[in-house]
Amino acid sequence: MTMKEIHLAGGCFWGAEHYFKSIEGVRKTEVGFANGHLDSPTYEQVYTDTTGHAETVHVVYDPAILPLEELLADFFCAIDPLSLNKQGEDEGTRYRTGIYYSDPEDLPVIRMVYSQVEDRVGAPLAVEVCPLDYFFPADEYHQDYLAKNPDGYCHLPLKLFRYPRLLADMKALLGDEGDPVARMSNASALIKERMGFFWVGYYIVREKDLVLGPFQGPVACMHIGYGKGVCGTAWKEARTIVVPDVEAFPGHIACSSQSRSEIVVPVFSEGKVAAVLDIDSAELETFDHVDAFWLEKIAGLSF
Ligand code: SME
Repeated sequence: MTMKEIHLAGGCFWGAEHYFKSIEGVRKTEVGFANGHLDSPTYEQVYTDTTGHAETVHVVYDPAILPLEELLADFFCAIDPLSLNKQGEDEGTRYRTGIYYSDPEDLPVIRMVYSQVEDRVGAPLAVEVCPLDYFFPADEYHQDYLAKNPDGYCHLPLKLFRYPRLLADMKALLGDEGDPVARMSNASALIKERMGFFWVGYYIVREKDLVLGPFQGPVACMHIGYGKGVCGTAWKEARTIVVPDVEAFPGHIACSSQSRSEIVVPVFSEGKVAAVLDIDSAELETFDHVDAFWLEKIAGLSF
């Protein structure tokens, strides 16, 4: 299949490009300035915030591996879609968020993902959607900036670069292995190794309760009832639960006093919760919507 392209503005293009590059199915990226009113602008001109351009990444991707719908969902995961002309600490119209399409046939998918995000956040988005009118590549200095300068400034959290690679490596590692215990065992080992969390493991749905499955970390409780603790609640409600402070979660089950925050992601099989992926951190407030988004994809592979 032929490659497709789209231009995405997600705040400072250094971090945005580094993020898109880490996603499986992205074949090529280039940073530049989109949709302003000055031809061939320099970075310094755009920096004055008077030229109307947005810092933008030209993304070339393989739709057979990465459908547009998924690429856009990944894009929305890395921006604050309610923030107008500001991403992280970067402010100005050049840091506005936008989806600039060259193929009008992409519009229905863009509209669909856009309205899904709007429904989820419950407010109109500050992300503009319009045809790509103009794109001018930035100097070589800005291309692949964070690959060339790993300690350089970045408005995105590091985990946004780690999760896409973890997902791609997980797919390759698990392949077509048919045994869920083998899949969950290596999945917990790889997540622990890459992300360094305190405890990573699975609880498997049996008749009336969850039973401890493959895990990495200190010993843990072996049975959890339906609706009990964070795990039993995620099973009952069939949704991801992010717990910034375990002491503030009513009914939290403390397997270790060192666990301070937690995320539990349901694992579905044939439309039902078959297990939960439970991850504990020894620090408060480790997990947020970014972890939920990527761990849901990872959990989807693990059974
Ligand atoms: N904290 C979990 C129990 C499992 S341990 O975190 C490994 C809960 O409340 O369900």
